[in-house]
Amino acid sequence: MFKLNETDKKWVDEIWSRIDAKLEYVAPLNKDKIPYITVDGVYNNMAEDDITWWTNGFWPGLMWLMYVGTKKEIYREAAERAEELLDGAFSEYERLHHDVGFMWLLSSGVNYRLFGGKKSKNRLSLAADILSGRYNPDGRYIRAWNEDKVGWVIIDCMMNINLLYRASEIYDDPRFRKTAMHHADTVMRTHIRPDGSANHIVDLDPDTGEAVEAFGGQGYGLGSSWSRGQAWALYGYILSYIHTGKAEYLDTAKRCANYFIANVCDDWLPRADFRSPAEPVIYDSTAGACAACGLLEIARNVPEHESGMYLNAAMELLKAMEREFCDWSREEQGILLMGTEAYHSRPERKHIAIIYGTYFFTEAIYKLKGFDMLFW
Ligand code: GLY
Repeated sequence: MFKLNETDKKWVDEIWSRIDAKLEYVAPLNKDKIPYITVDGVYNNMAEDDITWWTNGFWPGLMWLMYVGTKKEIYREAAERAEELLDGAFSEYERLHHDVGFMWLLSSGVNYRLFGGKKSKNRLSLAADILSGRYNPDGRYIRAWNEDKVGWVIIDCMMNINLLYRASEIYDDPRFRKTAMHHADTVMRTHIRPDGSANHIVDLDPDTGEAVEAFGGQGYGLGSSWSRGQAWALYGYILSYIHTGKAEYLDTAKRCANYFIANVCDDWLPRADFRSPAEPVIYDSTAGACAACGLLEIARNVPEHESGMYLNAAMELLKAMEREFCDWSREEQGILLMGTEAYHSRPERKHIAIIYGTYFFTEAIYKLKGFDMLFW
């Protein structure tokens, strides 16, 4: 349990009630869909648009957060329906990628841990096999994407490898965990810079695992600092620490977190890139929500005299974003607005409600409420 003062405790209770009230209304409207973004306030449906899309686990994950927190059946039904729809992605094997972690950990992974069903276990196992099949044993990394990108490794994968830690637990077989740790070790060397910032994409030599070339990816440009990538790094490394106990991962998570805290503006509203021109101001709320989740886990895993700074930073981010970016009305189905796909995205993909923004915002409040089942 986090040590919150009375005002913060009240705030958390109030926000949790608002999330529940809103999702109790939104969930049934979307029960045969897999939402990604809202258009004119209404969620789209990736089950129709692209079943292999990397974010397709976040809607069932959001529904499971609410089920665990409230035990309301509407949430379980929506989560299980989305998990069934996701089966269509297995028939698109050639289009699948390293994001099978995001897709099946938050859907089948949670379902299996809650209810132990065989179908969920099968789905989770298939996804873990697909992810570990992408491992390059000489380079000691998991490749991100397909086609000719044999050496491309992206920071986001630090979240996907949690699927492998969970598979090791389920099968009592260390090979999945070893694969994940090799990848995390490589990325510490190739992606995390000495100041705690992270490269988004690095092309690695498939024979040696040495960095060949870095790319700006979804950030402003080469050498810049895409804020969601910083959040993937800090949350990813604290999760690797939680799953393995390896001290270097905790140190890396702290370094990335310290960098994030030092670079988020005074108003605690994260820009899409921490090293971009001052104008135009492009926000990315998803970075703040994901970072808040990681900061809370760091706060839980450092000695008491250190944890206050991380807890405080998470609270500042969440409160600022709630004040400026949350929509509690029924005219808009998303909760957290102002997410940005990428710094250079077309205008209609900036400052929008993205499912993983609402997912991570809810996950952070769920943690602060004291629900301790870790989904990753
Ligand atoms: N994993 C892709 C992104 O963060 O946009």
